[in-house]
Amino acid sequence: MFEFMPEKDTSKPLLYSALAKAVLNLTAGERDPVANMANISALIWQFIPELNWAGFYRALGDELVLGPFLGKPACVRIPFGQGVCGTAAASGAIQLVPDVHEFPGHIACDTESRSELVVPVIGSIGLMAVIDLDSPTPGRFDEEDADGMEIVARLAAELI
Ligand code: SME
Repeated sequence: MFEFMPEKDTSKPLLYSALAKAVLNLTAGERDPVANMANISALIWQFIPELNWAGFYRALGDELVLGPFLGKPACVRIPFGQGVCGTAAASGAIQLVPDVHEFPGHIACDTESRSELVVPVIGSIGLMAVIDLDSPTPGRFDEEDADGMEIVARLAAELI
């Protein structure tokens, strides 16, 4: 249904711009939040290399609850303030973690994960979810990834 074949040397800004367009195309006219979170997760997985986990945790009450994702099975509930995801939820700030072993309280769902990027999804009512990306490569994510995923998160806020 959706194929993406990036050039080998595609820059990150171009990659994330293509990802954002794909998100808009694939969710056009669809209002179901679970379907949209599932397809956004699948697109992230397709577009962004070197991931071992990509998906959503939804903000429900004062905790995060696992949403649609790709990767190994993950912990279901994360209280705000705990782990990388809970820190992003509590602070509303993107968490860019080059080495998860150096992050106090990191929650190891997949022991292969070495670096992580968590982006809050903030709508008009406040925090709705976080998007969590894990990589087995240390230092996999940089500011360009954070900027690109911030755009995806802004789109997601209108779709979930
Ligand atoms: N590592 C995350 C937990 C979620 S899994 O990586 C899918 C954290 O510390 O919050």
